[in-house]
Amino acid sequence: MKADMMRIDKYISSQISSVSRKDAKALCKKGEVLVNGSIVKNSDEKIIAGEDIVTVCGEDISYKKHIYIMLNKPRGYVCSTKDGKSPTVLELVSPELFRKGLFPAGRLDKDTEGLVLLTDDGEISHKILSPKSHIEKKYYVELKYPTQEHYVAEFEKGMQIDGGDVCLPARIEFIPENKNACYVYLKEGMYHQVKRMFKKLSNKVVFLKRVQIGGLKLDENLGTGECLELLHKDVEKIL
Ligand code: URA
Repeated sequence: MKADMMRIDKYISSQISSVSRKDAKALCKKGEVLVNGSIVKNSDEKIIAGEDIVTVCGEDISYKKHIYIMLNKPRGYVCSTKDGKSPTVLELVSPELFRKGLFPAGRLDKDTEGLVLLTDDGEISHKILSPKSHIEKKYYVELKYPTQEHYVAEFEKGMQIDGGDVCLPARIEFIPENKNACYVYLKEGMYHQVKRMFKKLSNKVVFLKRVQIGGLKLDENLGTGECLELLHKDVEKIL
């Protein structure tokens, strides 16, 4: 079978989140599904995704193999697909963008805000998350105490944080207008890393927001808790 050939019911339910396989079969039976302009009542029939024009209830379905979503994560949500106690980032995705198999490609702490990529594309997510990728992530940080000049050298030399982990060389950028805030650039993502780095410097993170992953910046117009659909080429900026 050709790579992008699939059963019509599977195709429809994969592209429209509110339509199950069962619903898709029923729509076919009712004559609501057209392939290249002809009614297809038999849902066993196969189509070539991306080539054949599929129309459901009078609307053409544009084919997307995968979905990529930029989320501006609010605090209080966990970066996983399921959690017994807390709401997950998937709950912030609107039904129009939701797809089966969607997951967050990377984690932020429950109390951290900012850029999270959600996708159903395992391949690109694997590339982004590989420890070997060393993709730089930029964080906006607010601190309990003012930043100090010696932080620059501490970050650059590769800090040993509590628990014995040794960080890769990292960067800190001061914000002249606010001595209690800075940007931090990391090429890895150890557990609570930013918080542990400042703890080592006898300071404390009071607010943390991820603003960039590789070349992909958090859209300034995206409100906290909002999602924005991205194209594959936008996501490639991360790599
Ligand atoms: N570092 C942290 O401490 N927390 C995050 O969520 C991300 C980086």
